[in-house]
Amino acid sequence: MAQKDYDIKDISLAAEGKRRILWAERQMPVLTLIRQRFAKEKPFRGKRMSACLHVTAETANLARALRAGGADLALCASNPLSTQDDVAASLVKDFGVKVHAICGESRKRYYQHIAAACKHTPCITMDDGADLVNALHTNMKQYSKDIIASMEETTTGVIRLKAMAKKGILQFPVIAVNDANTKHFFDNRYGTGQSSIDGIIRATDILMAGKRVVVVGYGWCGRGIATRARGAGANVIVCEVDPVRALEAVMDGYQVLPIAQAAKVGQLFITATGNINVIDTPHFKNMQDGAILCNSGHFNVEINLTGLAKMAKKINRGVRELVDEYILPAGPGGKGQKRIYVLAQGRLVNLACAEGHPASVMDMSFSLQALSAEYAMKHPDRFTIGIHRVPEEVDNLVARLKLQAMGIKIDKLTAEQKKYLASSELGT
Ligand SMILES: NC(=O)c1ccc[n+]([C@@H]2O[C@H](COP(=O)([O-])OP(=O)(O)OC[C@H]3O[C@@H](n4cnc5c(N)ncnc54)[C@H](O)[C@@H]3O)[C@@H](O)[C@H]2O)c1
Repeated sequence: MAQKDYDIKDISLAAEGKRRILWAERQMPVLTLIRQRFAKEKPFRGKRMSACLHVTAETANLARALRAGGADLALCASNPLSTQDDVAASLVKDFGVKVHAICGESRKRYYQHIAAACKHTPCITMDDGADLVNALHTNMKQYSKDIIASMEETTTGVIRLKAMAKKGILQFPVIAVNDANTKHFFDNRYGTGQSSIDGIIRATDILMAGKRVVVVGYGWCGRGIATRARGAGANVIVCEVDPVRALEAVMDGYQVLPIAQAAKVGQLFITATGNINVIDTPHFKNMQDGAILCNSGHFNVEINLTGLAKMAKKINRGVRELVDEYILPAGPGGKGQKRIYVLAQGRLVNLACAEGHPASVMDMSFSLQALSAEYAMKHPDRFTIGIHRVPEEVDNLVARLKLQAMGIKIDKLTAEQKKYLASSELGT
């Protein structure tokens, strides 16, 4: 591959990257089956595709499946801190993917890399957070002419795209992969749950047992994080704005408090709302010395870090890798000063401080991506401009294949049961 076709940290890291990619593959049986079929059927033969996804070993296996299907693939990162540089190197060297991503890249370089993915003039795009689609609607509009459809991986991306559709500015069909059952039930809940706790422990080495952990947002991600934190022995407090979800948290056995109160007692705070400034300046004022803050939501806007920096007398960057220490005046009743720690500059803690979701759960999310792309390629007429669900048959196929790969058999409805369920007359 010509050097102009990629921009990565160091191609000599490829051997380690390949080992990681092949390790992840061992936990991705459904995607492996799809890759093997794609290699025979070539559904994307000669087609240009661009993906803006976290450049991890799991994404690499999706990229391999698309390449096996004949795609000419460009890949950029969906977060400046989530790229695994060795994986990026192997994708270029071993799998012919045009990768534009470097871990720790500046904001400017991040957007240059998105621009490179746009200039690839794709007919299918895959996005995680809608930065690529947004570019293709604004400063990179001229490269969007061939687009048949785009897949969106995450909740925040789907929300952004729905807002674009509502304003009437969306220019092509989008398939909301996030909203498929085999995506958010599993990836958002079990993937984010485990990997967020993993990231926090790797970054801090704190003991979870007995910690007062505040989870802000009890959606799919928040539920997973709260479950895993409790499993590790923490006392979990949940903050919510939605009454039904707050009630669910109460009945799941958590203490539910407004953030203003939780701020006073929490020792570790994890945000997962997809919303802005859910932990804000009045809350920092009331926090205890040593509080640790991190975020699992898509963008680094959930904790008001600009406000925190303004309040701080001093910031000690990198007191440990990916940990910044903010020195603040002590809170109410306290003397002197207190310390607040922020992990990964408020960016996705599971990707920045650990390796993102385990491969086994990404097996489903990325199988959905691959199959949805194939479906859009085969049936472009079925997708009007707007947001579409993953076809039910694709969602069910992924669940069936995953169960099969796990060696789990389930029951089938009998003819009598089908008839009973379809009838309104039969009662007691
Ligand atoms: N870290 C990851 O790898 C990963 C994986 C999947 C999704 N995400 C991201 O995580 C975020 C949450 O996703 P989700 O699928 O759980 O969404 P969701 O919509 O199911 O849940 C979000 C919850 O946050 C609540 N909320 C909103 N504002 C709040 C506030 N001010 N205070 C308290 N609660 C508030 C909402 O009521 C909702 O219940 C999104 O940004 C999504 O893109 C991250």
